[in-house]
Amino acid sequence: MILSKSAREAGIPLAEVAAYSTIFPMPRRSDEGFDTSEMLQHITAVQPGTLKLDRRFLPGISELTTLAEIIEVPDHKKTREASKHFVAFGQMLLTSKDEGETALHVALKPLDDSVLAHEYGVTNLIASGEVPYCNTFRPIGVARMYDGQAAMLTMYRHPVRSMDNILLNPELIDEQEIVDRALDRVGVTLATAHAGDLLLVDSVARNMVWDPSTKHSGNVFLVDFEEAGTTHQMTMDEARTRRIGDLTTFIASSYGLEKVGCELPEDFDVRLTAVMGEAYESRFRQIAGNAGIVTATDIASIVAQSPRLP
Ligand SMILES: Nc1ncnc2c1ncn2[C@@H]1O[C@H](COP(=O)(O)OP(=O)(O)O)[C@@H](O)[C@H]1O
Ligand SMILES: [Mg+2]
Repeated sequence: MILSKSAREAGIPLAEVAAYSTIFPMPRRSDEGFDTSEMLQHITAVQPGTLKLDRRFLPGISELTTLAEIIEVPDHKKTREASKHFVAFGQMLLTSKDEGETALHVALKPLDDSVLAHEYGVTNLIASGEVPYCNTFRPIGVARMYDGQAAMLTMYRHPVRSMDNILLNPELIDEQEIVDRALDRVGVTLATAHAGDLLLVDSVARNMVWDPSTKHSGNVFLVDFEEAGTTHQMTMDEARTRRIGDLTTFIASSYGLEKVGCELPEDFDVRLTAVMGEAYESRFRQIAGNAGIVTATDIASIVAQSPRLP
């Protein structure tokens, strides 16, 4: 795991900063949605050239000052190029006088402070189990580069692929079984998020990440919470409309793959309803009951209204 001296010399250094550990505050649910103002205060206090490691998610890291070096691992980027925020991937080496060296693989996502407070806050909520059964990458800290740019760090997971890559992959697309399992996972994941009062808004296929080699199901990791919100303060009708919005965005994003040359199966619409829709409906009912539910029949009509290439 530890990078050899020559590898360190060959790699592209992404950052070299002083690291401290802290506990970031959880966002609160307010009448307006998520209140991340306390998180924002913590983030603006991170000085240029420092990294605050999140003790909640990185136990075992003491409060001692450490040096953190992050070296890019270009291979980690494969299948992860479609990133609007130039997410980088690398190996982080923490060196402390008393504890020696620790190496971790990380994803580094640069964001402006207020966006970061929201995204890091929602990531924290999900990672601490506040949205039951929902998963995301483990948030491990916030760094600020010498030029003032802040970035959030998450623990890198290697075998996962975003759902657009799974649907786009021509070797996989012929395998009905893989596509169906992926659609089943999407249905379960969206229903779990919705039943836990979470709205994704940017619920496109590339923001859902899954390891297709997992035998039966496997967890889907949700990413990209810039626009995420909560339905906890909404009326039932309003919440249901917003859930339909998330489902519509996912369905449109999967049909959108046809524009980039992906040949979706002939009966993709049938499978969206029969697999994704059924999985969504039964999972939502299982967790939250019938109130505010979007049924497989509702999902069939969203599918029917979604434009496909002629
Ligand atoms: N910790 C991580 N481990 C593995 N892959 C990651 C990690 N964080 C992000 N990714 C990958 O990088 C892609 C871009 O990340 P995302 O948070 O969606 O940023 P953007 O806003 O730039 O789209 C995601 O689709 C995901 O596959
Ligand atoms: Mg994204």
